[in-house]
Amino acid sequence: MAIAKKMRKFVDGGSMIRKMFEEGARLKALYGADKVFDFSIGNPNVPPPENFKKALLDIVSEDSPNLHAYLPNAGLPAARQAIAARLSREQKVPVEAKHIVVTCGAAGGLNIVFKALLEPGDEVLAVAPYFLEYGFIADNHGGVLKTVPSKADFSLDLEAIAKALSPRTKIFIIDTPNNPTGRIYPEETLAALGALLSRKGDEFGHAIYLVSDEPYRKIAYDGANVASPLASYGNSIAVTSYSKELSLPGERIGFAAVNPKAEDLDYLLGALAIANRILGFVNAPSLMQHLIAHLIGEELAGGQAACVDVGIYQRKRDMLAKGLAEAGYEFAIPEGAFYLFPKIPASGGITDGEFLSFLREENILTVPGAGFGAPGYFRIAYCVEESVILGSLPGFDSHGIVRRLFGPDVFHHRRAHLVPGHVKGRAVLSRLCIGVFVGNRVQYRRENRGKAGDLIHRTPHSGHDQDVATGNQDQPKEFLIPLSGKGSCGGNHGACLGAEGNYLPKAWQELARRRPGKLQVAHSVCHIVVGYGQHARRT
Ligand SMILES: Cc1ncc(COP(=O)(O)O)c(C=O)c1O
Repeated sequence: MAIAKKMRKFVDGGSMIRKMFEEGARLKALYGADKVFDFSIGNPNVPPPENFKKALLDIVSEDSPNLHAYLPNAGLPAARQAIAARLSREQKVPVEAKHIVVTCGAAGGLNIVFKALLEPGDEVLAVAPYFLEYGFIADNHGGVLKTVPSKADFSLDLEAIAKALSPRTKIFIIDTPNNPTGRIYPEETLAALGALLSRKGDEFGHAIYLVSDEPYRKIAYDGANVASPLASYGNSIAVTSYSKELSLPGERIGFAAVNPKAEDLDYLLGALAIANRILGFVNAPSLMQHLIAHLIGEELAGGQAACVDVGIYQRKRDMLAKGLAEAGYEFAIPEGAFYLFPKIPASGGITDGEFLSFLREENILTVPGAGFGAPGYFRIAYCVEESVILGSLPGFDSHGIVRRLFGPDVFHHRRAHLVPGHVKGRAVLSRLCIGVFVGNRVQYRRENRGKAGDLIHRTPHSGHDQDVATGNQDQPKEFLIPLSGKGSCGGNHGACLGAEGNYLPKAWQELARRRPGKLQVAHSVCHIVVGYGQHARRT
């Protein structure tokens, strides 16, 4: 085959985010767009600022002869000027136009920076969880991505970083506010990081460059201050884009800003401009450079802020966080960006893949944390319509039951056995067992004990009919049948999850009688059996 081996590997592996994105399109065609809850990709759905359209029309209408011409590789002087003025003001670093290279988005910026700095085999150190493209971009330029874990709360672990920095480390990359965790690194931490990189650079006898990947700088909540990595360390380069703050990801516009104190400053700036050319970007899109000069110019003159309405994202965050917290998920509230990164529930027995496939059964698409170097988590990109968030919550909540079941408060030390998918035959449980039935297609309600989703322990011979009431299609979506029985199973108080009448507890038989067909459908959703003592067995 003529295709390069490395590229074949990439093709076969694919990008998890892109795969999910495509799966979303497939499911929407199948079920209708309003039945699919696609949280896979960070594609902003908040409109650009109000003055964007007029500015664009004005620029296009001007009939300037050079509007669509090649530009200097480093960018349109007016755009570099405006960008530098705004950055200096905001980050308190005296950056001038000559320190700015306008790029094709942040990804274009990272590519030119890595190309300018990396020798073959040089290491790029990132903090996990990290933005998964870093590995590819390092590899593009002969570099090798290494990672160091963050602390459990996703803050920087400076001790671990100190150990992970090696004589081959050329770049240390951070991303604040962070994708996928939403964490913002405080000023003191960045100052300590700067001191560490400086010390390690001296020890290794070469500069370690801090690359601050910051496309979410403006997406910060509750008035949070996004401290400047550039201000914390001289050998630093900020790389960013207008993909998120102006909602223009498809227009491919961003920039790299080099700290004026950086070592080999002039060479570095020259290398970045040449990298822009020889990587085939040549220059960032001309129309967008004119637009940026215009919008930022307007903001600097006291006009409209060149930024989307961040309050819209904050409302979405709050809505999602509330729903997920109520369902029992564990997560850190994002301080910025538009991702939520919860723990996969049920760490006691369920794999990440199994959990995410449960969500997919609810038409909820998310991305596994493994893709960000953090297995055991998953990412929800909440830059979607509020209706998508609200519509998804019942589906997320059915898995909140999973967490409650497997979580430390409930079955901390017990052995769990999960039986996903269609179960035929019967599950035989020994000793105390609880069978949980999770499904969004059966909508019955227990009337006499708590709300749907509660755990109910049935004592032997208590009779299920008391716990399960008549069907009511308007009632909550989770349907939980508690089954517990001592001794061997059998009859109707053994925990039997089989589809056939013989093995169904009485209550199930009753439900099946009242709602013909429903029980059968629900069996294809998912069954979970938790037991202790002996494993649950399927026969
Ligand atoms: C952390 C991070 N860095 C870089 C990028 C790339 O941004 P752009 O689309 O502007 O190239 C993204 C995009 O989602 C991102 O999340």
